[in-house]
Amino acid sequence: MRHEALASVTLDQLAERHFVEIARLVEAHTGIRLPPSKRTMVEGRLRRRVRALGLRDLEDYGEAIFSRGLLGAEFVHVVDCVTTNKTDFFREPQQFDLLRQRLLQGLAARAARVGAPIKFWSAAASIGAEAYTMAMVAADALGLDGPPFTILGTDISTSVIAAARLAIYPSAMAEPIPESCRKRYLMFARDAAREEFRIAPELRGLVNFAQLNLMDERYERDEIFDVVFCRNVLIYFAKEAQTAVIERLLSHLRVGGYLMLGHSETMTARDPERLRQIAPSVFEKVR
Ligand SMILES: C[S@@+](CC[C@H](N)C(=O)[O-])C[C@H]1O[C@@H](n2cnc3c(N)ncnc32)[C@H](O)[C@@H]1O
Repeated sequence: MRHEALASVTLDQLAERHFVEIARLVEAHTGIRLPPSKRTMVEGRLRRRVRALGLRDLEDYGEAIFSRGLLGAEFVHVVDCVTTNKTDFFREPQQFDLLRQRLLQGLAARAARVGAPIKFWSAAASIGAEAYTMAMVAADALGLDGPPFTILGTDISTSVIAAARLAIYPSAMAEPIPESCRKRYLMFARDAAREEFRIAPELRGLVNFAQLNLMDERYERDEIFDVVFCRNVLIYFAKEAQTAVIERLLSHLRVGGYLMLGHSETMTARDPERLRQIAPSVFEKVR
């Protein structure tokens, strides 16, 4: 009996050719590499699609997408499954400290001079914690009636964009948020048993979310930003894709603006002619 159960568990795998094809399509579309070492993770995450579609097992799922014409409709879910969306408020807080202590006043002075809002972009926003952290830091330093600013959050995954727009988070995620910001910008559910909070509407109103694939050859947006955060996403990409993404991000960053990368992604931006490193993983575009 136990042996039978074990056998059925080990048999629930993607066929090798299906895994290879999924990995190829995912990397071409999203930049995310799925080497064989990621296979168990991918299979684990795709099992929920097997259940959602009422299919027999992963083998059947592979057949459904590659031989029975389901790929077009299913690919968005494959992408949702393979992306890693881990995020936090005030993640890697030194960059937010730098923003508050050294950069924001200069950005505000320039914005006043040119008569435009300060523009921030969270380019792999996940469920929005990074974008709302920027909003809290800017609102705290400049005041909600102070110099205007706007924040854009984008991500390839449609499900995280929907969650970011909703802006409801489990209470535990409030932990790294400073007390003063918690009081001002978080609304906790009256029913404590719900253990969740929502970002206050005055902050939500400053942040827009949209779907955007960093691997697209050109981004269908006209904005030029003052500050671009692109953190904890390029680590999943091959070197060539990382360089191409940074290049496209820089084309949407004004000279004198700042690019913030994740702490393990700094090497990608080694171009001292154009980027001056002003702090760990923080670069000023100099030309
Ligand atoms: C680990 S989260 C990082 C979130 C946030 N930047 C942070 O540091 O907390 C990585 C995000 O990148 C997104 N992502 C992956 N590939 C992408 C692509 N090609 N274009 C846009 N977003 C992508 C994923 O959907 C995921 O939400």
